[in-house]
Amino acid sequence: MTKYYITTPIYYINGLPHIGHVFSTVLSDVVARYHRLLGHDVFFLTGTDEHGQKAEKTARELGITPKDVADRYTPLFQQLWQRLRVSNSDFIRTTEPRHHIGVQEVFRRAQANNDIYLGKYEGWYCTFDEAFWTEGQLVDGNCPDCGRKVDRISEESYFFRLSKYQEPLLSFYRETPDFIVPRTRFHEVIRFVEGGLRDLSVSRLKLSWGVPVPNDSKHVIYVWFDALSNYITGVGFPENQQLFHRYWPADLHVIGKDIVRFHSVYWPAFLLSAGLPLPRQILVHGWWLNEDEKISKSRGNVVEPNALIERFGIDGLRYFLIREAPIEADSSYSQESILRRVNSDLANDLGNLVSRSLTMVQRYCDGTVPVSGSHHPPFREPLEKILSSLRETIDEFAFPRLLAETWEVVNSVNRYIAEQQPWNLAKSSSSREQLNNVLYDTCEALRVIAALIAPVVPNTADQIWKQLGLSENASGAQLRNLQWGGLQQGTRLGELAPIFRRIDEKEQGPVPEVKAEILSQEQYVTIEEFQKLGLKVAEVKAAEKIQGSKKLIKLTVDLGSEIRTVVAGIAEAYTPEELIGRQVIVVTNLKPTRLMGVESNGMILAASTDGRPVLATIIGPVPNGTIVK
Ligand code: MSP
Repeated sequence: MTKYYITTPIYYINGLPHIGHVFSTVLSDVVARYHRLLGHDVFFLTGTDEHGQKAEKTARELGITPKDVADRYTPLFQQLWQRLRVSNSDFIRTTEPRHHIGVQEVFRRAQANNDIYLGKYEGWYCTFDEAFWTEGQLVDGNCPDCGRKVDRISEESYFFRLSKYQEPLLSFYRETPDFIVPRTRFHEVIRFVEGGLRDLSVSRLKLSWGVPVPNDSKHVIYVWFDALSNYITGVGFPENQQLFHRYWPADLHVIGKDIVRFHSVYWPAFLLSAGLPLPRQILVHGWWLNEDEKISKSRGNVVEPNALIERFGIDGLRYFLIREAPIEADSSYSQESILRRVNSDLANDLGNLVSRSLTMVQRYCDGTVPVSGSHHPPFREPLEKILSSLRETIDEFAFPRLLAETWEVVNSVNRYIAEQQPWNLAKSSSSREQLNNVLYDTCEALRVIAALIAPVVPNTADQIWKQLGLSENASGAQLRNLQWGGLQQGTRLGELAPIFRRIDEKEQGPVPEVKAEILSQEQYVTIEEFQKLGLKVAEVKAAEKIQGSKKLIKLTVDLGSEIRTVVAGIAEAYTPEELIGRQVIVVTNLKPTRLMGVESNGMILAASTDGRPVLATIIGPVPNGTIVK
């Protein structure tokens, strides 16, 4: 069986995952799933890049250890990938022992090859990009890549003889013309290497967060040397030789355009030095922009993926990203464009097709797929054409085109139903055969279409197959089983349900910006601090609106041992009558204050949505005065 080993970049753990990260990962997942559809033995690796100065800086700011930072952020990536149905085979964290062992082994091999020497590094370091720069490379004194401030470094350092690999790299590029896709990026790399390579600093002295240099633990290995090695340590290097030889070299590294040099120059050089085979291909994608700016945490224009999933669904988000983003260019995110895609392509075109055609099978054919056979509806040929060139389409990563062509077929099936009018054919027994053929062909098209789009929208595809009554998952389908006519006569449909609902934006408003950042040390409260709050259950005995105020209600509450007056700003949400007899939660030791002339001796807890308070209460009655903790 042909193997296919694909990787995502491993993500820095100093912030929440955002749509840019989601794109790198979902794109890789789509490629991995298409290769499974082709019948390949796929290994798909992702993970987190947990070392380096950036992680150390975040830890310092938060007053916790870098490992704590990693332990808090890494699960957020893992959970998001799971939620998005990312089908990775493994997840590597660079803090794992299996990774440390491998990084040190690569370093040792480079040393044994006389490619590492001790020297002194004098120059600049950009923590944001974790990149070394010489004076001459700076632009206006700042990092030439991201424009940020750089730090002066003058310290002992191990160097890697990158200069030695200029010629070997250039000849490798010549022999491997499809090493970097798209081609324009490849030309940039070749020009860069032709311009001459300087030896590269590969250790840091004044940094403790990283993999120690073998036999000189004063130094830690430079974070990119460490991070890039994940691609081999994640498939068993050096200890699990069987796994390693089964999958290495990688068939594809998926990366964003900002990290091309690390992958196409440094990484092959490290591998050549360690005597290991080079990866076959690197796919470079553009950036996602929000109003023309790269989306990134430091720019504060992050679109939170979980909020997008809540609104548009997993498949809605996946479909939008893959349908809208040509690999070579940057793409713009906007709420309108994602809404348009979900409503028109998924809910209207596909969703309606599935529901009306299967409802007709239910109604006119007793819920079983009628006849089987080799018919020639107008959409059969275009669909077969897509399948026969699928291998090339996947090799070209032409997913927007693939989806566009598939949706042409979807619409052609929709037109066919409109023309054939099965509801009229059903009226007379003389058109029974034609009715059966029309419905069979429609169901068969749905079966093939679902399998074809499953790598992009796995949930939708699985649902379609389930409703068609198929026992397998569409997301586990194999191309060789998609020949026309594969759907068996008599297959009993599953339970029918709408696969997509239209989203009404006006009803829902803009996607909320969720900022679930982790807290710094000062932002936490201790249990003792929390216990200082005197939270108790009380029953409302009397309530009246305060004259002259729209919002305020005066409440008389029974705290078991005492009766108190509390003023609450809830008059717009509750009438006094509906409050009487209810148990509420009161902060009993809040400093008393006067509101509209009434002394308030405590505060009632309520949740507030869009400024509308909803009272917090207790499930089940408890004696008044019970402490809440
Ligand atoms: N840790 C390094 C990668 C090491 S790989 C051995 C790193 N991490 S990152 O978290 O900053 O970025 C990971 C990936 O996300 C990169 O491919 C990057 O291009 C991608 N994206 C980050 N922001 C992006 C957008 N706004 N749009 C698309 N992708 C972008 O770099």
